[in-house]
Amino acid sequence: MPENNMDKPKIVTCTAPVNIAVIKYWGKRNEELILPINSSLSVTLHQDQLKTTTTVATSRSFQEDRIWLNGKEEDITHPRLQSCLREIRRLARKRRNDGDPSLDSTGLSHKVHICSVNNFPTAAGLASSAAGFACLVYTLARVFGVEGELSGIARQGSGSACRSMYGGFVQWIMGEKEDGKDSLAQQVEPQTHWPELRILVVVASAERKPVGSTSGMQTSVRTSCLLKHRAQSVVPERMVEMIDAVRRKDFPAFAELTMKDSNQFHATCLDTYPPIFYLSRVSHQVISLVHRYNKHYGETRVAYTFDAGPNAVIFTLEQHVPEFVQAVQHFFPPDTNGEDFIKGLPVSHAALSEELKRGIGLEPMAKGINYIISTKAGPGPCVVEDPTQHLLLSDGLPK
Ligand code: DP6
Repeated sequence: MPENNMDKPKIVTCTAPVNIAVIKYWGKRNEELILPINSSLSVTLHQDQLKTTTTVATSRSFQEDRIWLNGKEEDITHPRLQSCLREIRRLARKRRNDGDPSLDSTGLSHKVHICSVNNFPTAAGLASSAAGFACLVYTLARVFGVEGELSGIARQGSGSACRSMYGGFVQWIMGEKEDGKDSLAQQVEPQTHWPELRILVVVASAERKPVGSTSGMQTSVRTSCLLKHRAQSVVPERMVEMIDAVRRKDFPAFAELTMKDSNQFHATCLDTYPPIFYLSRVSHQVISLVHRYNKHYGETRVAYTFDAGPNAVIFTLEQHVPEFVQAVQHFFPPDTNGEDFIKGLPVSHAALSEELKRGIGLEPMAKGINYIISTKAGPGPCVVEDPTQHLLLSDGLPK
């Protein structure tokens, strides 16, 4: 091989999705390995609306590992980044030592440059660490030529990241082993399983920066006896019921379990001492709107779930999207006259009947919601084949 080719970096770009839990992960039994106190289940959101893109370059000429996140160079010595880098290199070395001839061993000692961007605003308060670490691990694995089970490595970046390694409906099985080898994500159903299911990310105007999930769950594990009860006596049965509801595409059962689990998670936050409040006035109004909407129709047509922040994620079926979105706009009159309020999958216009407005009967809350992203379930991480999409130039620096 000519000398200059040896110095040419190997560059790979991949994308990975955001996921939203319908059975929540909250609490670790091992902080270092990121092992949870209960199993959880999520829906992977479509990357057409929400994704992280990561480019990894590796070259003999790079002096050190480096990382750029959303345009800014960050500290590569962050312990969770180091865990992911170390585990991928360990796996690559093991495969090579096991005699996998397809593995190119030369690159193993080379340093990496990593560049990552989100296609959604970080300020939206959406869990970007899950997509970020899933994308990092998936891309590194491609660069070093390792395949197969990678969720156990993504988990060591951020717990919820392990579920972003698959598309569709995904469970994170908590596992029992001390070393965490059995704490892995697994696809329950692919994204094609329930095509009518729709997801609305309702971005609330945030009043303050909430407590981060890592430290929040530490305090909860230390102080909340409700969390202990939840992990031991509620979640195991709920996981079975949720998987069954997903498999049968039973929307009312899926919706009810989703809302109850979100409510119980936020109850454990209130049971934490000192208490943690993630839900805002706007979140409470969204909860009321959903329950009143369902009550008006005498059936569960819409469900909400909230993570460690005030944004709601709404699940519903395609046929109810236009009217429900209209109801949100009516009860949270936006700043603008409606344009830009809905992003993502197009939503057709629907009229709201006076009867429905009266039935819901809430006092409108102006500017409580910034915008809605309309999406659906989507696939897991993908390789981007088009080299013009790389985020790093051939000198290994960001474009
Ligand atoms: C409320 O995965 O962000 O979104 O493992 O400490 O990185 P670390 O926490 P993280 O926690 C997510 C918590 C949640 C619920 C969930 O996604 O299951």
